[in-house]
Amino acid sequence: MAEKRAVEPRLAARILEPGPLVLVTSLYRAQHNVMTAGWLLPLGFDPPRIGVAIHPGRLTHEFISRSEAFALNVPTIDLLNAVHRCGIESGRDGDKFLTAGLTPTDAAEVEAPLVEECVAHIECGLVERLSLADHDLFVGEVLAVSALDELFSDRWLIDADSPLLHHIAADQYAGLGKTYTARLGEEEE
Ligand SMILES: Cc1cc2nc3c(=O)[nH]c(=O)nc-3n(C[C@H](O)[C@H](O)[C@H](O)COP(=O)(O)O)c2cc1C
Repeated sequence: MAEKRAVEPRLAARILEPGPLVLVTSLYRAQHNVMTAGWLLPLGFDPPRIGVAIHPGRLTHEFISRSEAFALNVPTIDLLNAVHRCGIESGRDGDKFLTAGLTPTDAAEVEAPLVEECVAHIECGLVERLSLADHDLFVGEVLAVSALDELFSDRWLIDADSPLLHHIAADQYAGLGKTYTARLGEEEE
C-alpha cells in the first residue's frame, strides 16, 4: 500500500461524512482485535471527537473500556469478505487479523494497531463511555488521522464508483455509485 499522508485531526468528521463502514481496532494486554462497525457519529470539529456505538457483548467493548484507546480504519470494497467476517466472528474465538487476512500495523498515537489494507485511519483516545441504549456510545478524542492521498485531501475525492463500503443489512453491502453537487437557486419548479 502506498504511503499515507497525515491529515488534520479536525478533518476526522470528513472521513466519516459519507457514512462508510469501519474496522474498529483495539489492544489489551498484547492481544489485538478488529471488529466491523457501522454505527458511527462525528461529534465535533474542535475538539475533534467521534462516537461509535458498541454492544457490551463485544470483545471490542471490553478492550476499549480497559485500554481507553481505539482506531477506526476505513476499508474499501475489495475487503468486503474480510469486513463481513470481522462483523460476524468474535476475537474471543480467534485472531481475526489472521482469519480475515488483515495486517496489523503500528499507529502513530495509540497502542491499538491499524489495519494496513485500509485507506484511512482515525486514532482515538477514549474520553467517555455513555450507556444510552442497548449499545454504549464510546466517545473518542481524535489524536491522529491518516489517509491515502489519491483518495482523500480535505474530503473524499469520489467521482463515480466510490470504493468505500456501506452496509444495507445482514450480508448485503453497497458502494456509492455517484456524487451530486447541490446548487441552491436551481431547484425544480
Ligand atoms: C456491517 C456490520 C456492521 C456492524 N456494526 C456494529 C456496530 O456499529 N456496533 C456494534 O457493537 N457491532 C456492530 N457489528 C457487529 C460486530 O462487528 C460483531 O458482533 C463482531 O463479531 C464483534 O467482534 P468482537 O467480539 O471481536 O469485538 C456490525 C456487524 C456488521 C456485519
